[in-house]
Amino acid sequence: MSEVTYKTVEEIELIKKSSLLVSAALAEVAKVIAPGVTTLYLDKVADEYITKNGGYPIFKGYQVYDQSYPFATCISVNEAVVHGLPNDYVIQDGDIISVDIGVKMNDFIGDSAYTFAVGNVKQDILDLLSVTKQSLYLGIAQAKVNNRVGDIGFAVQSHCEGNGYSVVTELVGHGVGRELHEDPQIPNYGRRGAGKKLQEGLVIAIEPMINLGKKELGVAEDGWTYITKDGKASAHYEHTIALTKSGPIILSDFSIVEQAELSNKNLNTSYFA
Ligand code: MF3
Ligand code: CO
Repeated sequence: MSEVTYKTVEEIELIKKSSLLVSAALAEVAKVIAPGVTTLYLDKVADEYITKNGGYPIFKGYQVYDQSYPFATCISVNEAVVHGLPNDYVIQDGDIISVDIGVKMNDFIGDSAYTFAVGNVKQDILDLLSVTKQSLYLGIAQAKVNNRVGDIGFAVQSHCEGNGYSVVTELVGHGVGRELHEDPQIPNYGRRGAGKKLQEGLVIAIEPMINLGKKELGVAEDGWTYITKDGKASAHYEHTIALTKSGPIILSDFSIVEQAELSNKNLNTSYFA
């Protein structure tokens, strides 16, 4: 990461194509989530769908701490926050499953994540999902030319903390384009009017990671998966967005994910606004 790169209209169009393939892959995953299915199977569904449609699942081979990430998706269950490694865990009724996917196509990347509720999820956790998703849109609404990075974080943080949740501060959103993680960092906390000025052509991934309990994290035994220290649930939603003169444009698309979610009777959609 070095300096911020601003994207042309044509480049934003390419990032949109990649982001929509991410959304379509999330929808494919949404169709097959069920008690009894492993997270590794969900990864396989996403991986095959992306490849078949001409994209590359960019997390695969991504270098973090000198290690190469082995999967197409990050799948984080219940107290797992993000970077969950798909494995032979069998999904249970009452779980929440965050699925995070990045696609590269035509040299440009889209990045998006969604948290699903399986069956009889406790009401306090359904409320967490609802507030976290709302906070993403409140953050996006602040992603306007001449606002500052802190305006986005402030919007996310005040909504989530106002509802009694805590904001993960160890991990942040980011610029996205030719690289998965570009400058600037987009924290989910901040002060109004603070930080870097937002300019036309900026493309960023905004991704609130919000905990039901305390904000402190640990790392699971697999060495990748971030988990909450107190073992309470965590939610994660992410959109790739572009800043234009006429305001933020959401390049990924939850509407197709939500349609798939509504059509899968194993998923609990009672938390929809
Ligand atoms: N999707 C994560 C993000 O939004 C990054 C995944 S890192 C990888 O920033 F190692 F899993 F690829
Ligand atoms: Co991201």
